Amino acid sequence: MRLMNSSKEKDFVKLSEEWFDNQAKVYDETDTILYSKYGKISCKDIYDYLKDKNYEKLLDVGCGTAYLIEMLSKTHRAKHIGLDLSSEMIRQASEKHIDGAEFVVGKSDELPFEDNTFDVVTCSQSFHHYPDTDKAMKEVFRVLKPGGIYILSDTGVGFFKMLGVMVDNFIYTRFSNTGDCNVSYLNKSIRDLKRNGFEIVKGEKLTTFIYTVVAKKN
Ligand SMILES: C[S@@+](CC[C@H](N)C(=O)[O-])C[C@H]1O[C@@H](n2cnc3c(N)ncnc32)[C@H](O)[C@@H]1O
Repeated sequence: MRLMNSSKEKDFVKLSEEWFDNQAKVYDETDTILYSKYGKISCKDIYDYLKDKNYEKLLDVGCGTAYLIEMLSKTHRAKHIGLDLSSEMIRQASEKHIDGAEFVVGKSDELPFEDNTFDVVTCSQSFHHYPDTDKAMKEVFRVLKPGGIYILSDTGVGFFKMLGVMVDNFIYTRFSNTGDCNVSYLNKSIRDLKRNGFEIVKGEKLTTFIYTVVAKKN
């Protein structure tokens, strides 16, 4: 969904970049909702899904400080690539010197990779910052190999569904400077993924407001 609301004139990508550049240094250690609390829950869930699966190349879109890649690299001898809009988040990730990992500054809707490159693409607590979510899903679809898996874990509006989406995306985004612009919920994300060509492997709520969907490119 391309964001078309009363705050469409806001530059959400720039706001997200500034927001996360500013929190990068203390992101890991600040375990609250506006910092790493939800990311840790989503990363752990993604890790649990992948821990006994083999893959050669994984891309984490919106990787932040590499919390997920750090966990995965302890159990998987694979190539892990983290991409993030915020150069300060990428600096924190790179300074962890994780074996087999590479980090690049980039945007979710213009992934700097060739078609059919990755076995797995992950996205933890980043998706609700993307102004054009269809474009972001299409980019993931393009860079995944056939048979590849996309794991999307994000904050949603829980049982408020469309009402929550409207309040969040049409009212909250007007006043916030966090770069949030496209909060969704489990069933909506499943519909969006299907519309963009994915087959759904599984989808579940982890908490009232956090959900994970595993989808496949056939
Ligand atoms: C809440 S943090 C989550 C970081 C990490 N995935 C985790 O779960 O701990 C969201 C991250 O998404 C990144 N981000 C936001 N918009 C983005 C975009 N359009 N393209 C790439 N990364 C983006 C931010 O810079 C930030 O590092």
